[in-house]
Amino acid sequence: MVDLGQTVLGVEFQNPILLASGCCGYGEEYAGLIALDELGGLVTKAVTREPRIGNPPPRVSETPAGMINAIGLANVGLERFRREKLPWLRENLRRAYVLVNVAGWTVEDFVHVVRGLDDAEGFLAYELDASCPNVERGAEFATDEALLGQLVRSVRAATQRPIVVKLSPQVPDIGRFAEICETEGADGVSTINTFPGLLIDVERRRPIIGNVTGGISGPAIRPMGVYATWCAARRVRIPVIGIGGISGAADALEYMLAGAPLVQIGTALFVDPEVVCQTLEGLRAYGERHGVHRLADLVGALEA
Ligand SMILES: Cc1cc2nc3c(=O)[nH]c(=O)nc-3n(C[C@H](O)[C@H](O)[C@H](O)COP(=O)(O)O)c2cc1C
Repeated sequence: MVDLGQTVLGVEFQNPILLASGCCGYGEEYAGLIALDELGGLVTKAVTREPRIGNPPPRVSETPAGMINAIGLANVGLERFRREKLPWLRENLRRAYVLVNVAGWTVEDFVHVVRGLDDAEGFLAYELDASCPNVERGAEFATDEALLGQLVRSVRAATQRPIVVKLSPQVPDIGRFAEICETEGADGVSTINTFPGLLIDVERRRPIIGNVTGGISGPAIRPMGVYATWCAARRVRIPVIGIGGISGAADALEYMLAGAPLVQIGTALFVDPEVVCQTLEGLRAYGERHGVHRLADLVGALEA
């Protein structure tokens, strides 16, 4: 038997696999497809102060190794999330942990959402989306050191719950941004959000995505995600959650060896939701094959 558990953010995750923000809604749509409660956890779609309809369509398209999206943070907003979505999550995810992804345009926006949710039950922590490339100034927080510091400091003052800050790959030294998060009181960082990209329909000489540009995700970004995770994990003591292009156990293990105790799966869910079960089986098989009894022993075990 291989123990897949990971102690992170003050709790024991039954395994390291979480569903990534924006790729699993608020869980309901996946309930018939995946045994959600068997997961390590789920990160909700971003929650903003007010409801948002998001960007004009088309909002997603396939790329040679993944997808491009410009959803534009479409979401039900704080009030409805709290009233309708959180109770469902509380009822249905008892062993898997919920992280609420929070987005905003000002520090006050983030603080408002956090204050509006903080006394509710049904979730463990916040993941601050400081790095969305698909709305104007979306990645500003995770690319401006002073602003990031102010964001984390202000949210820290507003809650006792764990805070994870989702970082952008669009910086020369992501380790520096992880350090700022740690210094200002964050409990973890997650790396990475999507890379900005542009997909062109040459026949029409038009962008394929309604928003013109979008975020690239999927297998294409995995080596960059693993690199960012490795860079961040070497610089901070808080946990780094690995994200980007994971579609199986070997991919998840790359992130773990690079230093991530938890990982998130996003784009691969659109190809086949079964990917999460296959990944969990693959992790167990790897442990048995290599005589690893506790998967946690592999975190940061890259020999380089
Ligand atoms: C359709 C779509 C919507 C997303 N929405 C969000 C979001 O609301 N908040 C966020 O922090 N990240 C969002 N992301 C980014 C993912 O959570 C993840 O960081 C990224 O897709 C890389 O992981 P992947 O390659 O496994 O998809 C979104 C990604 C996709 C594809």
